[in-house]
Amino acid sequence: MELNKNLSKIKPSGIRKLFDLAQNRADLVSFGIGEPDFITPDHVREAAKQAIDDGYTHYTPNAGFYDLREALAHKLNEINGISVKTEEVIVTAGGTQALFSSFYALLNPGDELIVPDPGFLVYGSQVLLAGGNPVYLPLREENKFQLDPVELKKLITPRTRAILLNSPSNPTGMLLGEEVLKEIAKIANDYDLFIISDEMYEDIIFDGLKHVSIASFPGMKERTISVFGFSKSYAMTGWRLAYLALPERLANEMIKIQQNTAVCPNSVTQRAALYGLQQEEETKLAIENMRRAYQERRDILVKGLNEIKGFHCLTPEGAFYAFPNISELGKSSEELSMYLLDECGVVTVPGTAFGEQGEGYLRFSYATSSDMIKKGLEKIKEGIDKL
Ligand SMILES: Cc1ncc(COP(=O)(O)O)c(C=O)c1O
Repeated sequence: MELNKNLSKIKPSGIRKLFDLAQNRADLVSFGIGEPDFITPDHVREAAKQAIDDGYTHYTPNAGFYDLREALAHKLNEINGISVKTEEVIVTAGGTQALFSSFYALLNPGDELIVPDPGFLVYGSQVLLAGGNPVYLPLREENKFQLDPVELKKLITPRTRAILLNSPSNPTGMLLGEEVLKEIAKIANDYDLFIISDEMYEDIIFDGLKHVSIASFPGMKERTISVFGFSKSYAMTGWRLAYLALPERLANEMIKIQQNTAVCPNSVTQRAALYGLQQEEETKLAIENMRRAYQERRDILVKGLNEIKGFHCLTPEGAFYAFPNISELGKSSEELSMYLLDECGVVTVPGTAFGEQGEGYLRFSYATSSDMIKKGLEKIKEGIDKL
């Protein structure tokens, strides 16, 4: 029987392939996994237990509990400067679902959506699943992996519907600066395009830099779907909770997708996240402790990588990824990643898992302890010296 043709367009994840190969190997140091190694803050976990005892075991409204949406609308106004009302916030079962619903809502067959390369691998696959065509915009190291507005403009065609932004970025760890965002906003206005702004890592930013939401610029909320979540900020990947800020007319349509797929986000998870938002000070402290730990680990990793022959690594500004250039070593990303796994017992992800432009790079996740990072660096150094 013939299946949906869109499925055959999707390549298996390059990350999974490596994890499968790494299975059953003892004494591995992993820089592979893209999720916080921290456990969800105590008070949020306690709130979940309480929610179960309080009987939050039923369906919730499709767009999420109203009081949670109210609290999120307040946060979006106060922290992100996005002036949304409660009806313009939809709670979803994680960021991945939020992104898919966004693509599905915006695209008709053959419509184009511009996505960054290198970028989170899910974007391209989801655009294909939704029946659209991803158009890849190269992000260049010489440009500190910023998005180049001139290159962006060149990719726009009559079929272009939207541009995807991701700041801080997975896999490069870089932020999109305010000036670049302003130029992108102007392009979106000039060409009447939507922006999907993936801000999942908004709370993990270093060196006093500031996170800027494009939807906070005048008029931009009307053409932006902003994606935020709890997976990274609250170390809640397994709980599946995220939220969207978007114009009301679009929110009303997107709720139909949720109604007919996930039905609603998990009830207990929603109550726990609401408690986290209400306990502002305690939560802020927990997030800050994680952020500080990531920054310390970043410093150890980036310094260590730059001391290894053939590795050149920019200093990431956020998230928990480093994306060193390894092209001098004369091996492809996949070859080097395999060599590090086989020879040194170190898991990394080849840059090509994030797009063609990722050739010549490896992605390191430093959501692991400082001791592990140091051990991994030593093993890599030894392995590279043997090359
Ligand atoms: C840039 C980016 N966006 C979205 C997500 C999806 O997050 P979630 O686990 O909430 O689905 C991830 C997860 O790794 C990510 O790196």
